[in-house]
Amino acid sequence: MSEAAVIVRQTSGEASLPTAGSVLIIDDEAAIRESLETLLELEGYGVESAASGEEGLARIGERSFDLVLLDLALPDRNGMDLLAEIRLQDPGLSIIMVTAYGTVENAVKAMQAGAANFIQKPWDNEKLLADVRAAVARHRAEEENVQLKRALKQRYNFENIVGKSEPMLKIFDLVAQVAPSRSTVLLQGESGTGKELIAKAIHLNSPRRERPFVPVNTGSMPPDLLESILFGHVKGAFTSAVASKKGLFEIADRGTLFLDEIGTMSLDTQSKILRVLQDKKFMHLGGIHELQVDVRIIAATNVDLKQQVREGKFREDLFYRLNVITIDLPPLRQRKEDIPLLAGFFLNRYSQENERPTRRITPEALRPLLAYSWPGNVRELENVIERAVVLSAGVEVGPELLPDQIAGRASAFSALERRTDASLFDIMEDCERQIIVEMLEKCNWNQTDAAERFHVPLSTLNQKIKRLNIDIKKKVKE
Ligand SMILES: Nc1ncnc2c1ncn2[C@@H]1O[C@H](COP(=O)(O)OP(=O)(O)OP(=O)(O)O)[C@@H](O)[C@H]1O
Ligand SMILES: [Mg+2]
Repeated sequence: MSEAAVIVRQTSGEASLPTAGSVLIIDDEAAIRESLETLLELEGYGVESAASGEEGLARIGERSFDLVLLDLALPDRNGMDLLAEIRLQDPGLSIIMVTAYGTVENAVKAMQAGAANFIQKPWDNEKLLADVRAAVARHRAEEENVQLKRALKQRYNFENIVGKSEPMLKIFDLVAQVAPSRSTVLLQGESGTGKELIAKAIHLNSPRRERPFVPVNTGSMPPDLLESILFGHVKGAFTSAVASKKGLFEIADRGTLFLDEIGTMSLDTQSKILRVLQDKKFMHLGGIHELQVDVRIIAATNVDLKQQVREGKFREDLFYRLNVITIDLPPLRQRKEDIPLLAGFFLNRYSQENERPTRRITPEALRPLLAYSWPGNVRELENVIERAVVLSAGVEVGPELLPDQIAGRASAFSALERRTDASLFDIMEDCERQIIVEMLEKCNWNQTDAAERFHVPLSTLNQKIKRLNIDIKKKVKE
Protein backbone atom coordinates (compact mmCIF):
# COMPACT_ATOMS: atom_id res chain seq x y z
CA MET A 1 0.00 0.00 0.00
CA SER A 2 1.35 3.40 -0.87
CA GLU A 3 1.57 5.91 1.92
CA ALA A 4 1.43 8.74 -0.58
CA ALA A 5 -2.02 7.68 -1.63
CA VAL A 6 -3.45 8.07 1.83
CA ILE A 7 -4.43 11.64 2.27
CA VAL A 8 -5.89 12.55 5.58
CA ARG A 9 -8.70 14.91 4.87
CA GLN A 10 -11.20 16.28 7.31
CA THR A 11 -14.71 15.70 6.12
CA SER A 12 -16.19 19.18 6.38
CA GLY A 13 -15.53 21.26 3.29
CA GLU A 14 -13.97 24.32 4.92
CA ALA A 15 -11.70 22.48 7.30
CA SER A 16 -10.24 20.39 4.50
CA LEU A 17 -8.62 23.46 2.92
CA PRO A 18 -4.90 22.87 3.30
CA THR A 19 -3.51 25.75 5.39
CA ALA A 20 -3.36 29.51 5.65
CA GLY A 21 -0.40 29.21 3.31
CA SER A 22 2.77 27.23 2.87
CA VAL A 23 6.03 28.75 4.00
CA LEU A 24 9.61 27.60 3.59
CA ILE A 25 12.15 28.92 6.08
CA ILE A 26 15.78 28.92 4.93
CA ASP A 27 18.06 29.78 7.83
CA ASP A 28 21.20 28.15 9.18
CA GLU A 29 20.41 28.97 12.82
CA ALA A 30 18.30 26.26 14.41
CA ALA A 31 16.93 28.60 17.08
CA ILE A 32 15.65 31.04 14.46
CA ARG A 33 14.07 28.26 12.39
CA GLU A 34 12.31 26.85 15.42
CA SER A 35 10.90 30.10 16.67
CA LEU A 36 9.68 31.08 13.20
CA GLU A 37 8.17 27.62 12.74
CA THR A 38 6.25 27.81 16.01
CA LEU A 39 5.01 31.31 15.36
CA LEU A 40 3.76 30.51 11.86
CA GLU A 41 2.31 27.09 12.68
CA LEU A 42 0.23 28.61 15.46
CA GLU A 43 -1.27 30.89 12.83
CA GLY A 44 -2.22 27.90 10.66
CA TYR A 45 0.60 27.98 8.12
CA GLY A 46 2.16 24.82 6.78
CA VAL A 47 5.87 25.28 7.47
CA GLU A 48 8.99 23.53 6.23
CA SER A 49 12.54 24.45 7.10
CA ALA A 50 15.91 24.16 5.42
CA ALA A 51 19.23 24.73 7.15
CA SER A 52 21.19 25.68 4.03
CA GLY A 53 20.75 27.30 0.66
CA GLU A 54 21.23 23.98 -1.13
CA GLU A 55 18.60 22.26 0.95
CA GLY A 56 16.22 25.18 0.43
CA LEU A 57 16.58 24.98 -3.35
CA ALA A 58 15.97 21.25 -3.21
CA ARG A 59 12.73 21.79 -1.30
CA ILE A 60 11.54 24.40 -3.78
CA GLY A 61 12.20 21.92 -6.57
CA GLU A 62 10.12 19.26 -4.83
CA ARG A 63 6.92 21.15 -4.11
CA SER A 64 5.36 24.57 -4.35
CA PHE A 65 5.29 27.13 -1.56
CA ASP A 66 3.50 30.43 -1.19
CA LEU A 67 6.41 32.12 0.51
CA VAL A 68 10.09 31.72 1.36
CA LEU A 69 11.61 33.38 4.40
CA LEU A 70 15.22 33.63 3.32
CA ASP A 71 18.17 34.43 5.55
CA LEU A 72 20.39 36.85 3.73
CA ALA A 73 23.57 35.58 5.43
CA LEU A 74 23.81 31.84 4.83
CA PRO A 75 27.16 30.11 5.23
CA ASP A 76 26.95 28.02 2.04
CA ARG A 77 25.48 30.55 -0.38
CA ASN A 78 25.44 34.24 -0.95
CA GLY A 79 21.87 35.34 -0.13
CA MET A 80 21.58 37.51 -3.23
CA ASP A 81 22.69 34.70 -5.55
CA LEU A 82 20.28 32.35 -3.90
CA LEU A 83 17.47 34.86 -4.32
CA ALA A 84 18.21 35.04 -8.04
CA GLU A 85 18.31 31.27 -8.30
CA ILE A 86 15.00 30.82 -6.50
CA ARG A 87 13.40 33.37 -8.76
CA LEU A 88 14.73 31.51 -11.75
CA GLN A 89 13.31 28.25 -10.47
CA ASP A 90 9.90 29.64 -9.48
CA PRO A 91 9.44 33.21 -10.69
CA GLY A 92 6.07 33.70 -9.01
CA LEU A 93 7.19 32.68 -5.53
CA SER A 94 7.04 35.39 -2.81
CA ILE A 95 10.33 35.85 -0.95
CA ILE A 96 10.88 37.79 2.25
CA MET A 97 14.51 38.39 3.17
CA VAL A 98 15.44 38.05 6.82
CA THR A 99 18.46 40.17 7.72
CA ALA A 100 20.51 40.94 10.76
CA TYR A 101 20.45 44.47 12.10
CA GLY A 102 22.77 46.68 10.13
CA THR A 103 22.41 45.03 6.73
CA VAL A 104 19.47 47.07 5.56
CA GLU A 105 21.34 48.24 2.54
CA ASN A 106 21.60 44.65 1.31
CA ALA A 107 17.93 44.10 2.05
CA VAL A 108 17.01 47.03 -0.16
CA LYS A 109 19.14 45.54 -2.92
CA ALA A 110 17.32 42.26 -2.41
CA MET A 111 13.99 43.98 -2.86
CA GLN A 112 15.24 45.53 -6.06
CA ALA A 113 16.16 42.01 -7.15
CA GLY A 114 12.61 40.80 -6.63
CA ALA A 115 12.14 40.05 -2.91
CA ALA A 116 8.69 41.05 -1.68
CA ASN A 117 9.88 42.52 1.59
CA PHE A 118 12.54 42.28 4.29
CA ILE A 119 12.40 41.63 7.98
CA GLN A 120 15.07 42.61 10.45
CA LYS A 121 16.23 40.36 13.26
CA PRO A 122 15.12 40.52 16.01
CA TRP A 123 11.65 40.82 14.57
CA ASP A 124 8.37 41.98 15.97
CA ASN A 125 5.95 39.04 15.83
CA GLU A 126 2.88 41.05 14.86
CA LYS A 127 4.69 42.89 12.10
CA LEU A 128 6.23 39.66 10.80
CA LEU A 129 2.83 37.96 10.69
CA ALA A 130 1.30 40.92 8.87
CA ASP A 131 4.10 40.84 6.28
CA VAL A 132 3.75 37.07 5.83
CA ARG A 133 -0.03 37.39 5.41
CA ALA A 134 0.39 40.08 2.76
CA ALA A 135 3.06 38.15 0.86
CA VAL A 136 1.03 34.93 0.86
CA ALA A 137 -2.10 36.78 -0.27
CA ARG A 138 -0.14 38.43 -3.06
CA HIS A 139 1.29 35.12 -4.21
CA ARG A 140 -2.12 33.45 -4.24
CA ALA A 141 -3.70 36.32 -6.15
CA GLU A 142 -0.92 36.16 -8.71
CA GLU A 143 -1.27 32.41 -9.09
CA GLU A 144 -4.99 32.78 -9.62
CA ASN A 145 -4.33 35.44 -12.17
CA VAL A 146 -1.86 33.25 -14.03
CA GLN A 147 -4.40 30.43 -14.07
CA LEU A 148 -7.17 32.70 -15.29
CA LYS A 149 -4.96 34.02 -18.05
CA ARG A 150 -3.98 30.53 -19.06
CA ALA A 151 -7.63 29.50 -19.18
CA LEU A 152 -8.51 32.56 -21.25
CA LYS A 153 -5.66 31.98 -23.63
CA GLN A 154 -6.80 28.47 -24.22
CA ARG A 155 -10.47 29.42 -24.27
CA TYR A 156 -11.14 28.37 -27.80
CA ASN A 157 -8.16 26.16 -28.17
CA PHE A 158 -8.08 23.54 -25.50
CA GLU A 159 -4.86 22.02 -26.72
CA ASN A 160 -6.23 19.87 -29.51
CA ILE A 161 -9.97 20.45 -29.48
CA VAL A 162 -11.49 22.43 -32.29
CA GLY A 163 -14.97 23.76 -32.82
CA LYS A 164 -16.67 27.05 -33.57
CA SER A 165 -20.32 26.05 -33.52
CA GLU A 166 -22.54 27.61 -30.87
CA PRO A 167 -22.92 24.39 -28.84
CA MET A 168 -19.16 23.74 -28.88
CA LEU A 169 -18.33 27.31 -27.79
CA LYS A 170 -20.75 26.85 -24.90
CA ILE A 171 -19.00 23.60 -24.00
CA PHE A 172 -15.58 25.30 -24.04
CA ASP A 173 -16.90 27.96 -21.65
CA LEU A 174 -18.37 25.30 -19.41
CA VAL A 175 -15.10 23.35 -19.38
CA ALA A 176 -13.17 26.50 -18.39
CA GLN A 177 -15.70 27.10 -15.61
CA VAL A 178 -15.79 23.62 -14.13
CA ALA A 179 -12.16 22.62 -14.62
CA PRO A 180 -10.71 24.41 -11.54
CA SER A 181 -13.18 22.82 -9.12
CA ARG A 182 -13.23 19.20 -8.01
CA SER A 183 -16.88 18.71 -8.94
CA THR A 184 -17.90 15.48 -10.56
CA VAL A 185 -18.69 15.90 -14.25
CA LEU A 186 -20.92 13.69 -16.37
CA LEU A 187 -20.26 13.72 -20.12
CA GLN A 188 -23.08 12.51 -22.33
CA GLY A 189 -22.92 12.04 -26.06
CA GLU A 190 -22.96 9.55 -28.91
CA SER A 191 -19.89 7.51 -29.67
CA GLY A 192 -17.05 9.55 -31.18
CA THR A 193 -18.34 12.97 -30.11
CA GLY A 194 -15.22 13.75 -28.05
CA LYS A 195 -16.15 12.74 -24.51
CA GLU A 196 -12.71 11.47 -23.59
CA LEU A 197 -11.07 14.49 -25.19
CA ILE A 198 -13.23 16.86 -23.11
CA ALA A 199 -12.54 14.81 -19.96
CA LYS A 200 -8.81 15.25 -20.58
CA ALA A 201 -9.25 18.96 -21.23
CA ILE A 202 -11.02 19.34 -17.88
CA HIS A 203 -8.15 17.55 -16.18
CA LEU A 204 -5.45 19.53 -18.00
CA ASN A 205 -7.13 22.81 -17.13
CA SER A 206 -7.50 21.89 -13.47
CA PRO A 207 -5.03 22.30 -10.62
CA ARG A 208 -4.62 18.50 -10.87
CA ARG A 209 -2.90 18.72 -14.26
CA GLU A 210 0.45 17.54 -12.94
CA ARG A 211 -1.15 14.43 -11.46
CA PRO A 212 -2.42 11.42 -13.45
CA PHE A 213 -5.50 11.30 -15.66
CA VAL A 214 -6.60 7.69 -15.39
CA PRO A 215 -9.19 6.41 -17.85
CA VAL A 216 -11.03 3.16 -17.20
CA ASN A 217 -13.63 1.57 -19.40
CA THR A 218 -16.08 0.41 -16.77
CA GLY A 219 -18.62 -1.01 -19.20
CA SER A 220 -16.47 -3.62 -20.85
CA MET A 221 -15.29 -5.59 -17.81
CA PRO A 222 -16.79 -8.29 -15.64
CA PRO A 223 -17.72 -6.76 -12.27
CA ASP A 224 -15.13 -8.73 -10.23
CA LEU A 225 -12.26 -7.73 -12.46
CA LEU A 226 -13.41 -4.12 -12.55
CA GLU A 227 -13.55 -4.01 -8.78
CA SER A 228 -10.05 -5.33 -8.37
CA ILE A 229 -8.78 -2.88 -10.97
CA LEU A 230 -10.50 0.07 -9.31
CA PHE A 231 -9.83 -0.74 -5.67
CA GLY A 232 -6.72 -2.90 -5.85
CA HIS A 233 -6.23 -6.04 -3.84
CA VAL A 234 -3.97 -7.56 -1.25
CA LYS A 235 -1.94 -10.70 -1.88
CA GLY A 236 -4.15 -13.75 -1.62
CA ALA A 237 -7.45 -11.81 -1.90
CA PHE A 238 -8.49 -14.31 -4.56
CA THR A 239 -6.87 -17.29 -6.21
CA SER A 240 -4.94 -15.43 -8.88
CA ALA A 241 -3.89 -12.58 -6.55
CA VAL A 242 -0.29 -13.68 -6.17
CA ALA A 243 0.88 -10.19 -5.22
CA SER A 244 -0.78 -7.04 -3.88
CA LYS A 245 -1.83 -4.52 -6.46
CA LYS A 246 -2.73 -0.87 -6.26
CA GLY A 247 -6.16 0.15 -7.49
CA LEU A 248 -6.83 2.91 -10.00
CA PHE A 249 -8.39 5.02 -7.25
CA GLU A 250 -4.94 5.15 -5.64
CA ILE A 251 -3.10 5.67 -8.88
CA ALA A 252 -5.40 8.62 -9.62
CA ASP A 253 -4.82 10.14 -6.17
CA ARG A 254 -4.88 13.95 -6.41
CA GLY A 255 -5.60 13.45 -10.11
CA THR A 256 -8.66 12.53 -12.15
CA LEU A 257 -10.34 9.17 -12.65
CA PHE A 258 -12.29 8.93 -15.91
CA LEU A 259 -15.04 6.32 -15.66
CA ASP A 260 -15.93 5.64 -19.28
CA GLU A 261 -19.06 3.84 -20.54
CA ILE A 262 -20.59 4.08 -17.12
CA GLY A 263 -24.07 3.31 -18.45
CA THR A 264 -23.36 -0.38 -18.87
CA MET A 265 -21.75 -0.95 -15.48
CA SER A 266 -23.38 -3.66 -13.34
CA LEU A 267 -25.73 -2.58 -10.53
CA ASP A 268 -23.48 -4.27 -8.03
CA THR A 269 -20.40 -2.32 -9.09
CA GLN A 270 -22.50 0.84 -9.20
CA SER A 271 -23.23 0.54 -5.51
CA LYS A 272 -19.54 0.10 -4.71
CA ILE A 273 -18.58 3.15 -6.70
CA LEU A 274 -21.34 5.07 -4.96
CA ARG A 275 -19.81 4.20 -1.62
CA VAL A 276 -16.41 5.60 -2.63
CA LEU A 277 -18.05 8.75 -3.96
CA GLN A 278 -19.93 9.26 -0.72
CA ASP A 279 -17.25 8.42 1.83
CA LYS A 280 -14.10 9.03 -0.23
CA LYS A 281 -12.86 5.87 1.46
CA PHE A 282 -12.33 2.34 0.23
CA MET A 283 -10.46 -0.83 1.00
CA HIS A 284 -8.29 -3.08 -1.12
CA LEU A 285 -10.08 -6.32 -1.92
CA GLY A 286 -9.20 -8.59 0.97
CA GLY A 287 -7.63 -5.68 2.86
CA ILE A 288 -8.34 -4.46 6.36
CA HIS A 289 -7.21 -0.83 6.19
CA GLU A 290 -9.44 1.95 5.00
CA LEU A 291 -7.75 4.18 2.47
CA GLN A 292 -8.69 7.73 1.78
CA VAL A 293 -7.95 9.36 -1.55
CA ASP A 294 -8.55 12.68 -3.20
CA VAL A 295 -9.80 11.80 -6.66
CA ARG A 296 -11.86 13.84 -9.06
CA ILE A 297 -14.38 11.76 -10.96
CA ILE A 298 -15.39 12.40 -14.54
CA ALA A 299 -17.86 9.91 -15.97
CA ALA A 300 -19.00 9.39 -19.55
CA THR A 301 -21.86 7.59 -21.19
CA ASN A 302 -23.27 7.20 -24.67
CA VAL A 303 -26.64 6.01 -23.42
CA ASP A 304 -29.33 8.17 -21.84
CA LEU A 305 -28.65 7.62 -18.14
CA LYS A 306 -31.99 9.14 -17.08
CA GLN A 307 -33.73 6.56 -19.24
CA GLN A 308 -31.54 3.84 -17.68
CA VAL A 309 -32.64 5.09 -14.25
CA ARG A 310 -36.31 4.90 -15.29
CA GLU A 311 -35.76 1.35 -16.51
CA GLY A 312 -34.08 0.35 -13.24
CA LYS A 313 -30.74 -0.32 -14.93
CA PHE A 314 -28.91 2.53 -13.27
CA ARG A 315 -29.03 3.54 -9.60
CA GLU A 316 -30.82 6.82 -9.12
CA ASP A 317 -28.62 7.84 -6.17
CA LEU A 318 -25.45 7.26 -8.20
CA PHE A 319 -26.94 9.18 -11.10
CA TYR A 320 -27.46 12.23 -8.88
CA ARG A 321 -23.97 11.90 -7.43
CA LEU A 322 -22.43 11.86 -10.89
CA ASN A 323 -24.74 14.37 -12.41
CA VAL A 324 -23.42 17.42 -10.52
CA ILE A 325 -22.39 19.04 -13.78
CA THR A 326 -23.54 17.54 -17.07
CA ILE A 327 -21.98 18.31 -20.41
CA ASP A 328 -23.94 17.12 -23.43
CA LEU A 329 -21.81 16.67 -26.51
CA PRO A 330 -23.95 17.17 -29.60
CA PRO A 331 -23.61 14.75 -32.52
CA LEU A 332 -21.61 16.08 -35.47
CA ARG A 333 -24.68 16.20 -37.74
CA GLN A 334 -26.12 18.86 -35.44
CA ARG A 335 -23.08 21.13 -35.75
CA LYS A 336 -22.13 20.90 -39.39
CA GLU A 337 -20.32 24.24 -39.30
CA ASP A 338 -17.56 22.41 -37.38
CA ILE A 339 -17.00 19.94 -40.23
CA PRO A 340 -14.68 22.10 -42.42
CA LEU A 341 -12.69 23.16 -39.35
CA LEU A 342 -12.33 19.59 -38.09
CA ALA A 343 -11.53 18.27 -41.56
CA GLY A 344 -8.77 20.88 -41.96
CA PHE A 345 -7.45 20.12 -38.48
CA PHE A 346 -7.21 16.39 -39.19
CA LEU A 347 -5.77 17.03 -42.66
CA ASN A 348 -2.90 18.96 -41.05
CA ARG A 349 -2.41 16.40 -38.34
CA TYR A 350 -2.24 13.41 -40.66
CA SER A 351 -0.27 15.01 -43.46
CA GLN A 352 2.36 16.01 -40.91
CA GLU A 353 2.31 12.65 -39.19
CA ASN A 354 2.63 10.76 -42.48
CA GLU A 355 4.86 13.33 -44.14
CA ARG A 356 2.40 13.82 -47.01
CA PRO A 357 2.13 16.96 -49.11
CA THR A 358 -1.67 17.16 -48.74
CA ARG A 359 -2.77 20.67 -47.82
CA ARG A 360 -6.34 21.30 -49.00
CA ILE A 361 -9.75 19.76 -49.30
CA THR A 362 -11.42 20.72 -52.56
CA PRO A 363 -14.92 22.27 -52.51
CA GLU A 364 -16.13 19.17 -54.42
CA ALA A 365 -14.94 16.98 -51.57
CA LEU A 366 -16.25 19.27 -48.86
CA ARG A 367 -19.78 19.14 -50.26
CA PRO A 368 -20.34 15.42 -49.58
CA LEU A 369 -18.58 15.77 -46.21
CA LEU A 370 -21.16 18.39 -45.24
CA ALA A 371 -24.06 16.36 -46.58
CA TYR A 372 -23.16 13.12 -44.82
CA SER A 373 -24.83 12.25 -41.49
CA TRP A 374 -21.72 10.99 -39.60
CA PRO A 375 -23.16 8.24 -37.41
CA GLY A 376 -19.63 7.71 -35.99
CA ASN A 377 -19.28 11.46 -35.37
CA VAL A 378 -15.86 13.13 -35.11
CA ARG A 379 -14.02 9.81 -34.90
CA GLU A 380 -15.51 8.76 -38.25
CA LEU A 381 -14.57 12.09 -39.84
CA GLU A 382 -11.05 11.75 -38.46
CA ASN A 383 -10.71 8.27 -39.97
CA VAL A 384 -12.05 9.40 -43.35
CA ILE A 385 -9.56 12.27 -43.52
CA GLU A 386 -6.65 10.10 -42.39
CA ARG A 387 -7.47 7.60 -45.12
CA ALA A 388 -7.74 10.34 -47.76
CA VAL A 389 -4.36 11.80 -46.73
CA VAL A 390 -2.67 8.42 -46.92
CA LEU A 391 -4.21 7.69 -50.32
CA SER A 392 -3.55 11.08 -51.85
CA ALA A 393 -0.50 11.79 -53.93
CA GLY A 394 -1.01 15.51 -54.46
CA VAL A 395 -1.71 18.59 -52.41
CA GLU A 396 -5.49 18.26 -52.63
CA VAL A 397 -8.10 15.89 -51.30
CA GLY A 398 -10.85 15.53 -53.88
CA PRO A 399 -14.07 13.49 -53.69
CA GLU A 400 -12.35 10.50 -55.34
CA LEU A 401 -10.41 9.97 -52.10
CA LEU A 402 -13.56 9.74 -49.99
CA PRO A 403 -15.23 6.41 -49.25
CA ASP A 404 -17.99 5.58 -51.71
CA GLN A 405 -20.86 5.83 -49.25
CA ILE A 406 -19.79 9.37 -48.36
CA ALA A 407 -18.97 10.56 -51.88
CA GLY A 408 -22.35 9.21 -53.00
CA ARG A 409 -20.87 6.76 -55.52
CA ALA A 410 -22.04 3.23 -55.96
CA SER A 411 -18.94 1.18 -55.33
CA ALA A 412 -17.24 -0.82 -58.05
CA PHE A 413 -17.56 -3.85 -55.85
CA SER A 414 -21.32 -3.48 -55.61
CA ALA A 415 -21.39 -3.33 -59.44
CA LEU A 416 -19.56 -6.66 -59.51
CA GLU A 417 -22.10 -8.13 -57.13
CA ARG A 418 -25.05 -6.86 -59.19
CA ARG A 419 -23.72 -8.08 -62.55
CA THR A 420 -23.41 -11.80 -62.01
CA ASP A 421 -23.01 -12.31 -65.78
CA ALA A 422 -19.87 -10.15 -66.11
CA SER A 423 -16.28 -11.11 -65.42
CA LEU A 424 -13.95 -9.09 -63.21
CA PHE A 425 -12.24 -7.73 -66.34
CA ASP A 426 -15.54 -6.50 -67.83
CA ILE A 427 -16.34 -4.69 -64.59
CA MET A 428 -12.87 -3.16 -64.42
CA GLU A 429 -13.21 -1.93 -67.99
CA ASP A 430 -16.56 -0.41 -67.14
CA CYS A 431 -15.06 1.35 -64.15
CA GLU A 432 -12.15 2.63 -66.21
CA ARG A 433 -14.53 3.89 -68.88
CA GLN A 434 -16.70 5.62 -66.27
CA ILE A 435 -13.72 7.37 -64.67
CA ILE A 436 -12.33 8.57 -68.00
CA VAL A 437 -15.71 9.83 -69.23
CA GLU A 438 -16.28 11.69 -65.96
CA MET A 439 -12.89 13.37 -66.20
CA LEU A 440 -13.41 14.25 -69.87
CA GLU A 441 -16.76 15.79 -68.98
CA LYS A 442 -15.09 17.82 -66.27
CA CYS A 443 -12.48 19.03 -68.79
CA ASN A 444 -15.08 19.91 -71.45
CA TRP A 445 -13.80 16.93 -73.49
CA ASN A 446 -10.37 18.52 -73.80
CA GLN A 447 -8.10 15.47 -73.92
CA THR A 448 -4.91 17.40 -73.18
CA ASP A 449 -6.39 18.77 -69.93
CA ALA A 450 -7.73 15.35 -68.97
CA ALA A 451 -4.35 13.66 -69.59
CA GLU A 452 -2.71 16.27 -67.40
CA ARG A 453 -5.14 15.67 -64.54
CA PHE A 454 -4.64 11.92 -64.86
CA HIS A 455 -0.88 12.48 -64.80
CA VAL A 456 -0.41 10.39 -67.96
CA PRO A 457 0.91 11.33 -71.41
CA LEU A 458 -1.76 12.35 -73.94
CA SER A 459 -0.85 9.35 -76.09
CA THR A 460 -1.63 6.94 -73.22
CA LEU A 461 -5.03 8.53 -72.68
CA ASN A 462 -5.80 8.35 -76.39
CA GLN A 463 -4.92 4.67 -76.50
CA LYS A 464 -7.27 4.00 -73.58
CA ILE A 465 -10.05 6.03 -75.19
CA LYS A 466 -9.70 3.96 -78.33
CA ARG A 467 -9.53 0.63 -76.51
CA LEU A 468 -12.54 1.42 -74.34
CA ASN A 469 -14.59 2.62 -77.31
CA ILE A 470 -15.30 6.01 -75.89
CA ASP A 471 -16.98 8.00 -78.60
CA ILE A 472 -14.95 11.14 -78.32
CA LYS A 473 -15.66 12.60 -81.77
CA LYS A 474 -19.38 12.61 -81.26
CA LYS A 475 -18.99 14.32 -77.90
CA VAL A 476 -16.61 16.99 -79.18
CA LYS A 477 -19.02 17.85 -82.01
CA GLU A 478 -21.90 18.24 -79.57
N1 LIG B 1 -13.74 18.77 -31.11
C1 LIG B 1 -12.76 17.94 -31.47
N2 LIG B 1 -11.61 18.42 -31.96
C2 LIG B 1 -10.62 17.60 -32.34
N3 LIG B 1 -10.68 16.27 -32.27
C3 LIG B 1 -11.79 15.72 -31.79
C4 LIG B 1 -12.89 16.52 -31.35
N4 LIG B 1 -13.86 15.70 -30.91
C5 LIG B 1 -13.39 14.45 -31.05
N5 LIG B 1 -12.16 14.44 -31.56
C6 LIG B 1 -11.35 13.26 -31.90
O1 LIG B 1 -12.25 12.23 -32.27
C7 LIG B 1 -11.87 10.98 -31.71
C8 LIG B 1 -12.98 10.46 -30.82
O2 LIG B 1 -13.06 11.26 -29.66
P1 LIG B 1 -13.28 10.61 -28.20
O3 LIG B 1 -12.52 9.34 -28.07
O4 LIG B 1 -13.02 11.67 -27.21
O5 LIG B 1 -14.83 10.30 -28.32
P2 LIG B 1 -15.80 9.55 -27.30
O6 LIG B 1 -17.01 10.40 -27.21
O7 LIG B 1 -15.07 9.25 -26.06
O8 LIG B 1 -16.16 8.25 -28.12
P3 LIG B 1 -16.64 6.80 -27.57
O9 LIG B 1 -17.99 6.99 -26.96
O10 LIG B 1 -16.68 6.00 -28.81
O11 LIG B 1 -15.59 6.37 -26.61
C9 LIG B 1 -10.58 11.22 -30.97
O12 LIG B 1 -9.50 10.88 -31.80
C10 LIG B 1 -10.59 12.70 -30.70
O13 LIG B 1 -9.28 13.20 -30.65
MG1 LIG C 1 -14.57 7.37 -25.27
